[in-house]
Amino acid sequence: MEVYADHAATTPVKQAVIEKMMEIYATHFGNPSSIHSKGRDARRYLDEARRTVAKTFNAKPNEVIFTSGATESNNLAIKGIAYDQMNKGQHIITTKIEHHSVLHVFEQLEKEGFDVTYLNVDKSGMVDLEQLRRAITEETILVSIMFVNNEIGTVQPMYDIDEIMAQSNAYFHVDAVQAVGHLDIDFQEFHIDAMSITAHKFGGPKGVGALLLKTQTPLKFQQLGGEQEAKRRAGTENLAQIVGLAEALQISNQHRDEHNIHLMNLKNLFLVTLQERSVPFELNGSMIDTTGHIVNLYLPFIDVETMLTLLDLSNIYVSSGSACTAGTTTPSHVLQAMYGDDDRAKHSIRFSFNEQTTEQEIKYIAMEIHKIYHKFKEEA
Ligand SMILES: Cc1ncc(COP(=O)(O)O)c(C=O)c1O
Repeated sequence: MEVYADHAATTPVKQAVIEKMMEIYATHFGNPSSIHSKGRDARRYLDEARRTVAKTFNAKPNEVIFTSGATESNNLAIKGIAYDQMNKGQHIITTKIEHHSVLHVFEQLEKEGFDVTYLNVDKSGMVDLEQLRRAITEETILVSIMFVNNEIGTVQPMYDIDEIMAQSNAYFHVDAVQAVGHLDIDFQEFHIDAMSITAHKFGGPKGVGALLLKTQTPLKFQQLGGEQEAKRRAGTENLAQIVGLAEALQISNQHRDEHNIHLMNLKNLFLVTLQERSVPFELNGSMIDTTGHIVNLYLPFIDVETMLTLLDLSNIYVSSGSACTAGTTTPSHVLQAMYGDDDRAKHSIRFSFNEQTTEQEIKYIAMEIHKIYHKFKEEA
């Protein structure tokens, strides 16, 4: 058996998405900025994709800026707002568990003179709301908090955070990458000014994403050139990928509730099977306020690299955390922030699933972990 259990790193592209993209490549290849028929034909597909994305999040079509993925969206939102607003204040806030495409931008801004608050999280990965409340001052221009963490699946208390943000003048950016296809996100209802998404986490292609930006949100553009994306992001739009993103978004939201139930059942089954087999483990994070698609386990009997290699030999493909740190020995900054414990971070593995993952696959993974545990116990 072969099991791909690294869906938080990237998902396989859905067949319907591939077909839609092939059609664009083959037939609708015009430049959406050209005024001849082929250009106007391409423009129609671009406009339709934009309307689909906007509708999914209850946003307006002109609030959607297509990008090359969430790394670009995060960079554009954070630098774009910070540089634009730096005359009004120099204080910016984020959390210690953001994806590196957010954290490294904040670190860079800190070096440039911005004053940064990195919010703590508790052992379930929840941000400290009191700290957020206290941290915001007249000087605060931007707050960036992720919706769902990519290593442990924790869902932040977005309504509480939103209430705090509603009382502040600071702009609010949300990295919603891991929430899409799992949670219902209403861009109008929340006081979110900017929100990042990326197609390859919900069955779309890599290298395409979007930044949703409320109409009044100021932004210093980071990429200069043509007038694409209403002058906010220069460069010819990657039409086939953008249409693929819109198609994947529609499909991933079609049976979302059923999929969420399926994923929570898989998560339970995984943990119960490991327990039944007396494999020593602890769940990183908690079983409540998480998405079903990510399960991060502390397996004290084995280090990450050995476990990843042995699982790979059993044709099980997983990661040690965020894909950016996978393959290196750097312990996860997320687990460090949660537990303050390097050792735990060096013995933790992220399993992540999608709606196609089966119970048989989950049992297979649990049984292989059980075998590895026994091998190690006997050798010890
Ligand atoms: C939470 C989160 N933010 C941002 C990114 C970066 O997205 P992209 O690969 O599209 O640049 C990822 C991908 O791993 C992610 O999980």
